[in-house]
Amino acid sequence: MTQMKSALVLASGNAGKMQEFQALLPTYSLVSQTLFNVPEIEETGTTFVENAILKARHTAKISNLPAIADDSGLVVAALHDAPAVYSARYAGKGATDSENIAKLLRELDGISTIHRHAYFFCVLVLMRHAEDPCPLIAQGRWEGVILEEPRGKHGFGYDPIFGVPSHSCSAAELTLEIKNTLSHRAQALAQLQREISQQAHH
Ligand code: IMP
Repeated sequence: MTQMKSALVLASGNAGKMQEFQALLPTYSLVSQTLFNVPEIEETGTTFVENAILKARHTAKISNLPAIADDSGLVVAALHDAPAVYSARYAGKGATDSENIAKLLRELDGISTIHRHAYFFCVLVLMRHAEDPCPLIAQGRWEGVILEEPRGKHGFGYDPIFGVPSHSCSAAELTLEIKNTLSHRAQALAQLQREISQQAHH
């Protein structure tokens, strides 16, 4: 007998994320929150985990189904860990990727390579319902260095200035397949998969 897959609503309207998540969570039937007209919620947390919980809870409440949310960003040591949860709006609300990159490069002007260490961070939260007191939480971290200028055309966000030392290139010079074996999101998804299968054996 074929087993029915449980529905899981992704707290994002991003089609790229949908594909990535569905590929890595085969035991669920993933649904986009756009089907439920979930309005955007303000990300008021100062940590990735707070924002991911806010988004997952909001989507679970409106859809009445289990929900999964992610929150991610870039953490730069020389900038006292900025832009972090403000990564998408670093150069202001509605800023483009190029504007955010330009601001980051300006802030790091004159700072030498050895002090340009940075990492991408991703938190995933899975809530079975809006009042779930025990959400599954997973995180991933991808270490790198901020380059002096943008390189490459793949990816999105800060990829063109995120240097990947293991591959001697920027994240925007990696194919999506390779990025998906290294990235903060891929690591968090792998951790979440492990947690899900552990729960299934309880
Ligand atoms: P969110 O988690 O979708 O809110 O993304 C936050 C922001 O972090 C994005 O808009 C990007 O600026 C940045 N970011 C997160 N993940 C990546 C990545 O894999 N590459 C480049 N930038 C990223």
